[in-house]
Amino acid sequence: MSNRTHILARAAQHGQRYLEGIGDRFVGAMATGDELRALLGAPLGAGPIPESDVIDVLALAAERGTVASQGPRYFGFVTGGSLPAATAADWLVSAWDQNPGVFVLSPLISVIETITAGWLRDLTGLPAQASVGFVTGCQAANFTALAAARHHVLSAAGWDVEARGLFGAPEIDVVVSDEAHYTIFNALRLLGLGAARVRRVPTDDQGRMRAEALARALDTGTGPCIVCAQAGNVNTGAFDPLLAISEAARRRGAWLHVDGAFGLWAATSPKLALLVAGVEQADSVATDGHKWLNVPYDCGIVFCAHPDSHRRAMSMSAAYIMESRAERDPHEYVPEESRRGRAVPVYAALRSIGRDGLRDLVERCCLLARRMASRLGEEPALHVLNDVCLNQVLVRLGSPSPDAGADARTKAMIERIQMDGTCWAGGTTWHGMAALRISVSNWSTTGSDIDRSAEAIVRVARTVLSED
Ligand SMILES: Cc1ncc(COP(=O)(O)O)c(C=O)c1O
Repeated sequence: MSNRTHILARAAQHGQRYLEGIGDRFVGAMATGDELRALLGAPLGAGPIPESDVIDVLALAAERGTVASQGPRYFGFVTGGSLPAATAADWLVSAWDQNPGVFVLSPLISVIETITAGWLRDLTGLPAQASVGFVTGCQAANFTALAAARHHVLSAAGWDVEARGLFGAPEIDVVVSDEAHYTIFNALRLLGLGAARVRRVPTDDQGRMRAEALARALDTGTGPCIVCAQAGNVNTGAFDPLLAISEAARRRGAWLHVDGAFGLWAATSPKLALLVAGVEQADSVATDGHKWLNVPYDCGIVFCAHPDSHRRAMSMSAAYIMESRAERDPHEYVPEESRRGRAVPVYAALRSIGRDGLRDLVERCCLLARRMASRLGEEPALHVLNDVCLNQVLVRLGSPSPDAGADARTKAMIERIQMDGTCWAGGTTWHGMAALRISVSNWSTTGSDIDRSAEAIVRVARTVLSED
């Protein structure tokens, strides 16, 4: 066996062993930063060491240093696992080591992007002519979409922002909801549109933008305008009323962007699609592959109903960059030039589970979230704070209302859940109240994982209360 064959096989064995044990292990990380530094941080030597030693020590560090976010009882943030075919395809992406900037650099990745983009538009009901870019995550997708928006609305006002920047440009009226995800503000900041100068529209008790308040806000405006709406609130899972919002945006001549990091996938289920109705009217949509589609990090997807604005906002060229006339040059749709072929795991995930499999994945997670809410709701001291319309559950210990004692108990419960290790969930603040945040986003989570986790949460909650 050549050294390369040997080392790749060894890494694959480590990866397989890691994944085989993922459902049984303590769900949080087990090592401290100091332990990991002791294991990995020896000074870099001048000469080589055996490749197998390098890989073995990484695998050893991963046993205790990783979080079992690939596992079935990880409910933190909005973290999907990775479908087996997607993980395997991602390994191939590394083996191939293609740079899909332009077609000539990798015909394979360019064609896979074209095919996958078509499937994604079709599955989510987005317009057939929308352009699609494969980026690192939804933050990058929001950035890319808002760069296209900036180009489009300023170009309509006779301003070439790519050439002249924002110095002396017409002002853009940016309208967001009070509950816009922080990555929207980060994207606006990076694009020179300012995170603080936006106009904010109030939301309802679930975090949905109030459409009538948006309509009032837009009625008075003129000139370039961008509206940012959301499909899937990061805390409650709630959806902004996109049909009414798109109507108001259209009346104002505004660009409508929808952040659908995980909520966009509701469009793949006939039972849930109503939640996201109107998204097909948006000028741009951002989503993640690495959340609910269950492909490995890093994978986000941006859709744009105005391919020309998308391309103009993203791409420049140089004499030595051999662009293609007839084929897709992937760099035209993303901020990066060189990058990995991140559409390949998306292709593999979709091909392996098919349309029905994707719909089942999304619907199953929602069903399991409701099961979790119902198990926890049976415990008198636990209060579910949100309408569980998707895959997100917010839980509070002690009282469903603002109360310092309940805040302290809820925070203590979250810390204890993480120390217990049966499952992992994080905390948040919802309407000024501390809450446990549970997101069911993993293809491998079962009903018994939910029951086992709910039992652990109830046990921990009772312990916290008994120590009062
Ligand atoms: C609504 C929303 N938008 C954007 C993001 C950012 O996504 P990413 O971390 O993949 O960049 C998230 C992440 O949770 C989100 O929930």
